[in-house]
Amino acid sequence: MPFQPLPDAISDVLLTEQQIQQRVRGLGAAISADYAGLDPLLVGVLRGVVLFMADLMRAVSIPFGIDFLAITPYGAQAGPGQVRLLKDLETSIEGRHVLFVEDMVDTGLTLHTLLRMLRERQPASLHVCTLFDKPRLRLVKLPLRYVGFELPDRYVVGYGLDYRQRYRNLPFVGVLSAQVLLPSGVSADNDPS
Ligand code: PRP
Repeated sequence: MPFQPLPDAISDVLLTEQQIQQRVRGLGAAISADYAGLDPLLVGVLRGVVLFMADLMRAVSIPFGIDFLAITPYGAQAGPGQVRLLKDLETSIEGRHVLFVEDMVDTGLTLHTLLRMLRERQPASLHVCTLFDKPRLRLVKLPLRYVGFELPDRYVVGYGLDYRQRYRNLPFVGVLSAQVLLPSGVSADNDPS
């Protein structure tokens, strides 16, 4: 069975495109004010962050650089939040003002690991901007300087958030309908991604 077309796949729209775009513009304005004169480096983690990063960049009005990390989780034996770098930064962050940009913080374990890694590289400052936050799932305390929206603990997709790599392209955030989430958690098209 192929992935469900819209609107069947979405049971509820949590955030409209307009709400998201308005909030992203607000975050961009705050970042522009806070980092004026600091030439910050915005660092994103692939892949979910790409939509947010693209819009945030256009909402920031001061000079800045960007770079990306790509990671994959180590096996379950290594422990939650342990990740392997697939792609490192191409920019030295020593002495730079780094703003770590995330699409979502759930348990916080991924971010905790990545922030520890980046701190070792001695940036001048290191802060976090996440568009979506699920604070009820947090397992580790993290300082989040900018948060776009708090989300309930539901399976949401869109604006970068995926279900088995699908639905990232939706311009809004919606709740995935029960008929897409099969009981075993196994997709009917056997896509293992
Ligand atoms: C998401 C998100 C964070 C991580 C947060 O990435 O971008 O990196 O999960 O989860 P945590 O707070 O529980 O550690 P995901 O692994 O879904 O990959 P993606 O960016 O490719 O969608």
